[in-house]
Amino acid sequence: MADESLPQPVAVEDRPGPIFRRLLRFDAVDSTNEVAKLLLGHGADEGTILVAKRQSAGKGRHGRAWASPPGGLYLSFVVKPEPAYVATLGLLLGMPVVKALRHFGVFATLKWPNDVVFMEKKIGGILSEGVYRGDAFYGVIGVGVNTGMDLERLPEDLRARATSVKREGAEYVDNDDFLDYMMKHVEDIVSKFRTETRDRLIKDYRGLCTTIGKDVVVTTPKGKVAGRAYDITPMGALVVMDPQGAKTEIVDGTVEHSHRPR
Ligand code: BTN
Repeated sequence: MADESLPQPVAVEDRPGPIFRRLLRFDAVDSTNEVAKLLLGHGADEGTILVAKRQSAGKGRHGRAWASPPGGLYLSFVVKPEPAYVATLGLLLGMPVVKALRHFGVFATLKWPNDVVFMEKKIGGILSEGVYRGDAFYGVIGVGVNTGMDLERLPEDLRARATSVKREGAEYVDNDDFLDYMMKHVEDIVSKFRTETRDRLIKDYRGLCTTIGKDVVVTTPKGKVAGRAYDITPMGALVVMDPQGAKTEIVDGTVEHSHRPR
């Protein structure tokens, strides 16, 4: 019997897989990542997707909030990577978001690590978290995309820096169509991640990431690093080279692209 103290989906659907075979639908939740963590072993396992129509406490990276009004796409994937690789997988799952946005008419790119941007405005983001349940390690990878939302519903301070498919695309895009298209690429990446060398996937990522080659200032937990974004390592770290040629590898941080003329 279902544990009624846990969030209950309004629908449970089968998916074609091969990895993601179960979709849990919710109307409103605090955060799909939080619900995924609560439901681990109670309806959510590796290969589960949780999707909500809105979130009351959507979470972004670095403790920031992710405004989640109706119309946007809010979902979490439950995966079981090696613990050291959960962030790398989260980084790579920016690619399916970009591919789906391009398919639906918005020529998005990635800003390291996994901000999805169009004309330097944020249109999507990814939050990867790792969690143990007993000895089992799970990755919960949350994806938010500003698909059909009204930008007026975002907090005022975010509006100038954000955009949506509704604003930039030519046509209405149904969230389920967006999800179906994106899932083909998610399946592909997660299976390749299990079997192929990760270097190949990182090369693909590099091709979609507009941070490389730009002058950047990266705010990291240890302070700011400024220089030219030079490369991405096989684990997904950003390599920044300063004017003297010294390189710093950054595993986590917030990047500002500089627009100074060279
Ligand atoms: C970021 O760019 O800061 C990451 C944003 C991630 C937002 C998604 S929406 C679905 C999932 N649930 C959350 O609470 N956050 C992620």
